Amino acid sequence: MTNSVTGARGFIASWIVKDLLEKDYVARGTVRNPAILINPDDPKNSHLRQLDGADTRLQLLKADLTNFGSIQSAVSGRDGVFHLASPVTDDPVQMVDPSIQGTLNVLNAALQAGVRRVVMTSSIGAVAMDLHRDPNVVVDESCWSNLDYCKETKVLR
Ligand SMILES: NC(=O)c1ccc[n+]([C@@H]2O[C@H](COP(=O)([O-])OP(=O)(O)OC[C@H]3O[C@@H](n4cnc5c(N)ncnc54)[C@H](OP(=O)(O)O)[C@@H]3O)[C@@H](O)[C@H]2O)c1
Repeated sequence: MTNSVTGARGFIASWIVKDLLEKDYVARGTVRNPAILINPDDPKNSHLRQLDGADTRLQLLKADLTNFGSIQSAVSGRDGVFHLASPVTDDPVQMVDPSIQGTLNVLNAALQAGVRRVVMTSSIGAVAMDLHRDPNVVVDESCWSNLDYCKETKVLR
């Protein structure tokens, strides 16, 4: 089984890469900064390079969520895709559009490439921030945070 992990350098993605390598999978991870790829000793990715199995089964590739071609390259020929890359900030301009477009790019590229399974993360912040919802109700994909409430409380600026 071969897998791609978007945003491989990130917090959760790094753990997924570690787990995949420990289970003998081949992993392809995406990063944005090409300098990281050129210099294997760059401290920004040394935690990935030092993982057991990384020397033979981890390939790092440059990809940006907003560049569909780079995402196509990242997922081509893969059985599975873990989509973790996301701008993590409280600035909606920097976060919302790139996240939505990036997720659509990943899903469309995976569909075109015949990827068997895509796993993606979102945030509890996208669904749970609504004072009018009963706190005992289990939130799911039908629930969305209340944008006005987020703005009033400055959860989202
Ligand atoms: N951490 C948590 O506790 C938590 C909890 C629930 C949900 N989540 C969700 O899980 C996901 C990952 O969270 P995280 O905490 O692991 O994030 P993180 O450490 O900030 O990692 C995010 C990664 O996304 C990459 N990225 C950002 N913008 C990109 C773009 N335009 N194109 C390509 N890559 C881009 C960054 O890549 P570079 O390395 O190239 O900069 C970074 O490595 C997010 O969707 C987050 O909302 C996180």
